[in-house]
Amino acid sequence: MADTSADSADSADSAECRAAGSELVRFDKVTKRFGDVTVLDQLDFRVETGKHVTLIGPSGSGKTTILRLLMTLLTPEEGTIKVDGQYLTHEERDGKLVKPGERHVREVRKKIGMVFQHFNLFPNMRVLRNVMEAPVHVLGLSKDEAEERAKELVELVGLTEHLDKYPSQLSGGQQQRVAIARALAMRPQVLLLDEVTSALDPELVAGVLDVLRDIALSTDITMLVVTHEMSFARDISDAVLMFDKGKIIESGSPEKIFSEPEHDRTKEFLSTVL
Ligand SMILES: Nc1ncnc2c1ncn2[C@@H]1O[C@H](COP(=O)(O)OP(=O)(O)OP(=O)(O)O)[C@@H](O)[C@H]1O
Ligand SMILES: [Mg+2]
Repeated sequence: MADTSADSADSADSAECRAAGSELVRFDKVTKRFGDVTVLDQLDFRVETGKHVTLIGPSGSGKTTILRLLMTLLTPEEGTIKVDGQYLTHEERDGKLVKPGERHVREVRKKIGMVFQHFNLFPNMRVLRNVMEAPVHVLGLSKDEAEERAKELVELVGLTEHLDKYPSQLSGGQQQRVAIARALAMRPQVLLLDEVTSALDPELVAGVLDVLRDIALSTDITMLVVTHEMSFARDISDAVLMFDKGKIIESGSPEKIFSEPEHDRTKEFLSTVL
């Protein structure tokens, strides 16, 4: 894989050059095992800043594991993960890579937001407070600032008229849209979406996908998406990666992967979901 690091560039423009084509997420030779089972095997994986990358592949191929590693819900047995140029899995001390301290992990993880299949809103808080809570308590925003940000995001996900409701008073699709607003309120650099519509009743799926399509097209946020909604993936993705048994077996533009897949495993998988 080409080394795109620009450490040697020292002109005034170099920071800008880096920002344009830089890697926001970088896995180097990451291995994740559960007991004897190797789920990710020496995985190299990159997501460039601003890109929308979709992971597809059969059940058990390791897609969620990648997202859980990024959320530091799991730790790899081998390899390194970097986010925005900083180690997530390690900390550099005296030129050596060591186990990271909690503070370091918290700082790097702030760059990452995730929406899960099951949205897990705070049931005892109204919509507005669900979205304000973390910016106030984790980022230290003032209540006024957090409220302004939350209202903008609730509007973005089309729920302004529901600001004062509790999660139990909303449909699953509406709750998931609140969860999306809540993740965005932390201003993450990369948004991770793991099958965010798969727990919803079919008639609620389109509304959530419309909101995500809007966010993908109208913001510059980097997205890492696991979905079985192939037409959505085709619309928003810059690249699609096909996983099988913890390895990327094929990757390319959505046109290439969905219209002219090369690998038999990809063809077989797509025939079950398209
Ligand atoms: N905490 C765990 N303990 C043991 N095994 C696990 C654990 N989490 C995941 N696995 C195993 O790791 C493999 C990859 O799981 P992962 O959840 O990443 O798959 P996936 O590609 O997201 O699948 P799906 O499409 O079904 O969500 C599976 O074989 C799974 O059983
Ligand atoms: Mg999964």
